[in-house]
Amino acid sequence: AKPMLAATPPMGWNSWNWFAGKVTQDDVKQAADLVVSTGMRDAGYVYINIDDTWQGKRDASGVLHPNEKFPDMKGLADYVHSKGLKLGIYSSPGDLTCAKFEGSLGHEQQDADLYASWGIDYLKYDLCGFRTKLDAEAPGDKLKQNVMMRDAYVKMHQALLKTGRPIVYSLCQYGFDSVWQWGPEVGGNLWRTTGDVRDNFPSIALIAETNVGLGKYAGPGHWNDPDMLEVGNGKLTMDENRTHMGMWAMLAAPLLAGNNLTKLTPEVTGVLTNREVVAIDQDSLGKQAERVYQEGPVQIWSRPLADGGRALAVINFGEDTTFLRGIPLHLKEAGVTSGMKARDVWAAKDLGAIKDDYKVALKRHEMLLLRFSK
Ligand code: DGJ
Repeated sequence: AKPMLAATPPMGWNSWNWFAGKVTQDDVKQAADLVVSTGMRDAGYVYINIDDTWQGKRDASGVLHPNEKFPDMKGLADYVHSKGLKLGIYSSPGDLTCAKFEGSLGHEQQDADLYASWGIDYLKYDLCGFRTKLDAEAPGDKLKQNVMMRDAYVKMHQALLKTGRPIVYSLCQYGFDSVWQWGPEVGGNLWRTTGDVRDNFPSIALIAETNVGLGKYAGPGHWNDPDMLEVGNGKLTMDENRTHMGMWAMLAAPLLAGNNLTKLTPEVTGVLTNREVVAIDQDSLGKQAERVYQEGPVQIWSRPLADGGRALAVINFGEDTTFLRGIPLHLKEAGVTSGMKARDVWAAKDLGAIKDDYKVALKRHEMLLLRFSK
């Protein structure tokens, strides 16, 4: 049997959050270099994903060519592969992408074959341009639109399968139907659960909130995608960077760094490559955390781990800048059984067997991440 694609949430880097429409082939090459030299690759970040705006025009036989910013896609793929990394690309089931570049409508197999010929390992397929078609052909008819949309996603999945190349299939169709209920059926390895992440804490908090109750839909090979990381993009404090990263790990989220790697600081690298946090994200059980309870501004999320232990995140979403003290942890309620030993993951400190009424103190937007083992 072929190994399962995305058996754990995909990890890597994506061009959109920082470079958006300005990304060039050299930026992508440099990202590949830096992912290696900063130790990110060895921490698990292997997909180097080009987002929107790489596409040029189709020739007379319909073959799509990259635009002048990407003069040699095959060469780029070879380069990325030579570094022990994988290359991802982006398209839309519509005639145009969100950024109004060429989409795959009517050329699905041709495009899939092209990706495979370059050596592409990951496709993000963004509904965007297809929305126009849905509104034109089935105005106001949600039911028909859903069928059309699913068919479009199935079509590209079939095309990818036909290439014979293992290509991770990332669905991007937020704000449309409960994708987590049909994502796996159309072959999706991951699907966006929300609109675009922004480089600010309210965006991170909103995405966490939107993921409440979605845990049961995630598992090996098929993940909820709360969007790419904004860690290190400049607007989040170090506490917020850790909370963002730790929350995504709790959510068994794809970890796609979305920052400018040429600006990486040792502190931010430390957050992205923290082995113990990444291990929670990549836990082989593949169970996404659920929110167990919230008290005031504090939320407690919990996920079971393959070794029989648990990860517990305690987050202060409040705005008060003074320490919030005396936060009680109802460990039993959070699934921690007696005798389990706790480790403070961000502090890299063993706490031993803590009591059910253990009290913690958190700063504004700070997260305590605990790993419990038997
Ligand atoms: C919308 C998606 O949600 C973003 O992540 C990005 O891919 C843009 N489209 C690109 O146009």
